[in-house]
Amino acid sequence: MRQSERGRVDPFIVMDVMEAARRAEAAGRHVIHMEVGQPATPAPLGARQALIRAMEAGPLGYTVALGLPELRARIARLYADWYGVDLNPDRVVVTAGASGAFVLAFSALFDAGERVGLGLPGYPSYRHILKAMSLTPVGIETAPQHRFQPVPEDLPPDLAGLILASPGNPNGTMLDRAQMAALAEAAAARGAALISDEIYHGIDYDRRPVSALEITDDAYVVNSFSKYFSMTGWRVGWLVVPEAHVRTVERLAQNMFICPPHASQVAALAAMDCDDELQANLAVYAENRRLMLEGLPGAGFPTFAPPDGAFYVYADVSHLTDDSLDLSRRILDGAGVAATPGLDFDPGRGHRTLRFSYARSRADIAEGLRRLGAFTAAL
Ligand SMILES: Cc1ncc(COP(=O)(O)O)c(C=O)c1O
Repeated sequence: MRQSERGRVDPFIVMDVMEAARRAEAAGRHVIHMEVGQPATPAPLGARQALIRAMEAGPLGYTVALGLPELRARIARLYADWYGVDLNPDRVVVTAGASGAFVLAFSALFDAGERVGLGLPGYPSYRHILKAMSLTPVGIETAPQHRFQPVPEDLPPDLAGLILASPGNPNGTMLDRAQMAALAEAAAARGAALISDEIYHGIDYDRRPVSALEITDDAYVVNSFSKYFSMTGWRVGWLVVPEAHVRTVERLAQNMFICPPHASQVAALAAMDCDDELQANLAVYAENRRLMLEGLPGAGFPTFAPPDGAFYVYADVSHLTDDSLDLSRRILDGAGVAATPGLDFDPGRGHRTLRFSYARSRADIAEGLRRLGAFTAAL
């Protein structure tokens, strides 16, 4: 049967690495998982208990398309708590994860063929979802001296949109307020819609990240319960849109998804009041980050931008290879450590980089570093 051209997107390579790691484990190997970008912890206890109560109380049928009103109101309150921003809950759209939010955002903002800028290295699915929607991703190569974030001077012409991520994946680097404001201004001057992916907010170490909503109401802000709230598999996130866009996004959401998963919305609402448990998870990431920053250079990976947030280190491996896919296979086979080749994040330069995730337990990170050190020492 025929297949569309736009449907031919590249694989999300980390998923392939996860599958290779799973096969190794099925064959009896012990693997340290430094490839997956997800917490090893479950949804907070309070979230799980709230869901049990809700399942016993009712059928959990469809909700309204924009999400449970109490969840939208609670998310709006988070903007007051975290950023001092007074947000109208009507502007909050609950989605099937950040991934669902991208599909809604791109549908609401862009027409087929339009060009959308994004920093490279960057989260691969931006490019692949854009292509699948007949849009044109425009990679903006970012530089180490800008800590791998785009700068206004590098924005190409004729953009209909600009996607920012701070902290970003794979680097974990952040834009400060002035940098974010300069990019928002440059996007507005070009008539480009700003999309700010804030999925790693809450997972920061020395300073808190800036939300685009602190700078402008004229942006789409994407967030999720996957990372800080430790709920990847629950598939629930959100989008904040300008007031004038709410009805457009609502009509799209009604037709594309009917509603976000009801059970996950119930759990997400309760998760927002589980700060003690979530802060304990954060303390583990902070300790893991310290181990990585101290241990990676001695393990043979001395060159990377220290992350401000998220739970990744994106390391230069050009002294070891110019084929990061092959290196990640050799590290998995030889050391029993799964890491993600940079090609996922940067098709041009990613053959000389690897991303290590430190979202797992402290013991896993220590053992992973030990194995990496032994591997590179034997090269
Ligand atoms: C930068 C970034 N945005 C979005 C996503 C997708 O997240 P979700 O699980 O909410 O769909 C990820 C997942 O790793 C990510 O790293």
